[in-house]
Amino acid sequence: MRIDVITIFPDYLAPLREALLGKAIERERIAVGVHDLRDWTHDVHRAVDDSPYGGGPGMVMKPDVWGEALDGVCGAADSAAPVPRLIVPTPAGRPFDQRTAIRWSAEPWLVFACGRYEGIDQRVIDDAATRMPVEEVSIGDYVLVGGEVAALVMIEAVARLLPGVLGNPLSAEQDSFSDGLLEGPCYTRPEVWRGRAVPDVLRSGNHAAIDRWRRDQALARTYQRRPDLLAELPEGTLNKADRAQ
Ligand code: ADE
Repeated sequence: MRIDVITIFPDYLAPLREALLGKAIERERIAVGVHDLRDWTHDVHRAVDDSPYGGGPGMVMKPDVWGEALDGVCGAADSAAPVPRLIVPTPAGRPFDQRTAIRWSAEPWLVFACGRYEGIDQRVIDDAATRMPVEEVSIGDYVLVGGEVAALVMIEAVARLLPGVLGNPLSAEQDSFSDGLLEGPCYTRPEVWRGRAVPDVLRSGNHAAIDRWRRDQALARTYQRRPDLLAELPEGTLNKADRAQ
């Protein structure tokens, strides 16, 4: 997969080169390009924003600079080359979730357009949408100062689903959310720590009992912390043994 990020703060994306993502880049599972939006300005001040039409606080990112940046990174309008899926992080977007991450993980090319200030002139997004799929996406109901951290969150969620990125592919399959439930608690050695013992069943060697216990823990945790997720489970997800809990 190829991932490009356009931002006025390229250094913000430095964590992409660390840890799991850094290894995925080294192993050529993903190729990442980070682009400075100001490279597409033409004035001495390298201005990327201007005051909003209609008045109000804050500044809006200029369409001319963004238009050229997207042409440069995604390909110009008259090109017959493949186009990316363009992601615009914004608190006004549709919610990002694990399903979105799974869907995007099948894409060959994602481009993240990180806005700052009050946002990007809407015509940039509307114009891009005439030649490539575009999604305006929020990572949660709170407001960050820009899209960079949101892009990092989404890129990590997608990249760990790619084949060969996680050490153990089962980890992604057993995630919280992969079956619509939160994952239950986990334990490692020592058997007793500060007087707290690991649940007996996990040391029993009885794999059917362990699976049942884990499923019950997941159900109980989801019920307590995210009852909204239980309500959303597709018909048939809970079996008879689950319902007996
Ligand atoms: N930019 C600012 N806040 C954001 C959010 N919650 N999600 C995505 N992008 C953002």
